[in-house]
Amino acid sequence: MKAIIIGYGRMGKEIEQILLQRQHEVVARIDAVPGVGDYTEISEEILKKADFAIEFALPTNIEENARIYANAQTPVVIGTTGWDNIRQDIAKIFEEKGTCMWGSNFSIGAHMLFKLTEKMASFYENIPGYDIMVNEYHHKFKKDSPSGTAITIGEKILNNTTKKKSIITDRLDRQIKDEELHVASVRGGMIPGIHTVTLDSEADTIELTHNARSRQGFALGAVLAAEWLANKKGFYRVEDFINEVLN
Ligand SMILES: NC(=O)c1ccc[n+]([C@@H]2O[C@H](COP(=O)([O-])OP(=O)(O)OC[C@H]3O[C@@H](n4cnc5c(N)ncnc54)[C@H](O)[C@@H]3O)[C@@H](O)[C@H]2O)c1
Repeated sequence: MKAIIIGYGRMGKEIEQILLQRQHEVVARIDAVPGVGDYTEISEEILKKADFAIEFALPTNIEENARIYANAQTPVVIGTTGWDNIRQDIAKIFEEKGTCMWGSNFSIGAHMLFKLTEKMASFYENIPGYDIMVNEYHHKFKKDSPSGTAITIGEKILNNTTKKKSIITDRLDRQIKDEELHVASVRGGMIPGIHTVTLDSEADTIELTHNARSRQGFALGAVLAAEWLANKKGFYRVEDFINEVLN
């Protein structure tokens, strides 16, 4: 199929590799910085040359771009983050016309971890004697902590047990309370991202770890999502696609 990449940065370049590996043709690369891609902005005319588009850029003109994708009727996968406040407005555009899938995490492995975390939390809920905790490692350049993925893991645990009531991300200078879930972060080296959920009792320890080696997992998930979107209409979330893959 013919594809267009919007945002030719770290993710855009990774996506291009996966597209080519999966026998797709990249007909245009769009990047806001002149000279980085083939064009600096999208248009209906360019989009109509492609069967689908994949956008991992910045959300500066997300609403205007959404209307252009919808009018061109070119299905688009949007991995761009940072537009939570206008999600409903964008969804409405695609519910009326066109096709879009949005997701904050396109890694299928990370979604497997989320599902397994829910199971771990239900064991914690039902089996006495265990405690549950989360820790994550990321490279020294990462500017935020904990990671968005660690927060999602924490929320999945809170949603699947009545025994933990809040997430604590601080260093503790006191004993942790039973109803507090500790989510700890370590920064250093070049680690792309390691997340571990631990169940611990007097008898044993059970650890569940997702270890991302590169951006490849996100890029592959986005390309598979674009293939899944063919012949669909409306606004989808990545979970709509991933749940089908995982089930
Ligand atoms: N959903 C996921 O699974 C996932 C995974 C990784 C990154 N992301 C998100 O993807 C986005 C890009 O990440 P990255 O690591 O590739 O960043 P990056 O900075 O390496 O690349 C972004 C590129 O987009 C270009 N750009 C910015 N605004 C643009 C616009 N309006 N139109 C066209 N091009 C534009 C920039 O010039 C840059 O080349 C970020 O929002 C990031 O949070 C999402």
